Amino acid sequence: MTDPRLAVVILAAGQGTRMKSATPKLLHPLAGAPIVGHVLATARALGAEHIVAVVRHERDRLVEVISAELPEAIIVDQDEVPGTGRAVEQAVAALPADFDGDVLILNGDVPLLNAGTLASLLARHRDHTATTTILTAVLPDPTGYGRIVRTADGGVDRIVEQKDADDDVLAIPEINAGVYVFGVNELRDHLASLSLDNAQGEKYLTDMVAVLRSAGSEVSAVPVNESWIVEGINDRAQLSAAAARLNALIVRGWQLAGVTVQDPATTWIDIKVTLAPDVTILPGTQLKGATTVATGAIVGPDTTLVDCEIGEGATVKRTDGTLAVIGAGASVGPFSYLRPGTVLAADGKIGTFVETKNATIGAGSKVPHLSYIGDTEVGEGANVGAGTITANYDGVNKHRTTVGSFVRTGSHNVFVAPVTIGDGAYTGAGTVVRKDVPSGALALNVAPQRNIEGWVAVNRPGTDAARAAAESGSS
Ligand code: UD1
Ligand code: CA
Repeated sequence: MTDPRLAVVILAAGQGTRMKSATPKLLHPLAGAPIVGHVLATARALGAEHIVAVVRHERDRLVEVISAELPEAIIVDQDEVPGTGRAVEQAVAALPADFDGDVLILNGDVPLLNAGTLASLLARHRDHTATTTILTAVLPDPTGYGRIVRTADGGVDRIVEQKDADDDVLAIPEINAGVYVFGVNELRDHLASLSLDNAQGEKYLTDMVAVLRSAGSEVSAVPVNESWIVEGINDRAQLSAAAARLNALIVRGWQLAGVTVQDPATTWIDIKVTLAPDVTILPGTQLKGATTVATGAIVGPDTTLVDCEIGEGATVKRTDGTLAVIGAGASVGPFSYLRPGTVLAADGKIGTFVETKNATIGAGSKVPHLSYIGDTEVGEGANVGAGTITANYDGVNKHRTTVGSFVRTGSHNVFVAPVTIGDGAYTGAGTVVRKDVPSGALALNVAPQRNIEGWVAVNRPGTDAARAAAESGSS
């Protein structure tokens, strides 16, 4: 449902210098989505009539992400005047002139804040007479945040930024979360009057609190119960702390939905992953991107899957996979490397030290040991011998290998693509398959074995091998 009296402004123009990164801060990934993506998703959940995103630093990269996630968002380019106050001033100017509702301001770098908390902040703002409501938190270590200075009677007097604070203010543990509800007309009337006269030479949005108070308006502060939900991400230490928090929430959510996660501390699940009830996740597993796992499947230990689809009852052990589809009841690993385009049908097997890429392996077919299978189609019920390599690359182009249904290939084969092995065919151990093998044929191309009797005694006299041979009775 859309709330016609609500506009949400997302501040995303800052440089994020403390990340020391070529990637804009707000695009660093957190649980598989950019930091700002979490804020955009929260903004969408609030059903605001207008959503404005303010950008400047690396604006094109930001706009690409914002437009994909929230196509309806109004993009505002902040000019050269720095500061969150200027960002909001320009955002408000982009709202329709007849909008006279509430403006909820979100910092693009505070990603764990949930829509529920914001909805109650908004409800509280609307129930009370205060013209402005801000979200605060009491932090064990408030360093870096703006501090809430209260009046003797407990009201909010002003916000003082870390860099402008004296020792008394620095000792205040209550911080500004960077989330505010203003009436749009208060913003229209007063934003232009904010000065740049502070330690950072910026127009601080936080100065609105003192400005509104001296204009006779009341500002009320709502502290959150769990302070971590308002923690901002300014550097990579805060990024990893937020990632751990979010991951713990995601893991717990799946546990309550019926997924066994044996070791939450070493299990990482991205926000877009989907798991069915009765999935089991073993320690050291990372499920990334849009990975889905169907019921009864067992994944891990020590497995990383990116954008994979794991079928019902499959097992995937000590595996690294990207863009692979694993069928119901199939078995993968230990030590398998599934590259993009791997499709293993129901009840198939990709076993130990096997690498696959662009390979479809049919129902019940097995590639059990020590193989590279690339650009290949294997029919059903086939068994590919240990140590098989598809030689798919001629140095210029990639070629395809086709292995029919119910084929049995010997150990240590090389399939020199393009090549086809017909249904029900066999190949001998050590065969280098350069020509197509007809259905039902046995392909052999290894030279007959020749034994030179007594070779060791003549050519390696005095060695352990010669002694052992002599003791075994041969000369
Ligand atoms: C800000 C608050 C601080 C609060 C903290 C909460 C101000 C002046 N300070 O500090 O009181 O405790 O957030 O996390 O607001 N941005 C713009 N345009 C700019 C500058 C920043 O859009 O010119 C955006 C940034 O991209 C970011 C957000 O505003 O998403 C906050 O900016 P940041 O520089 O991180 O502010 P803090 O120092 O964290
Ligand atoms: Ca910040």
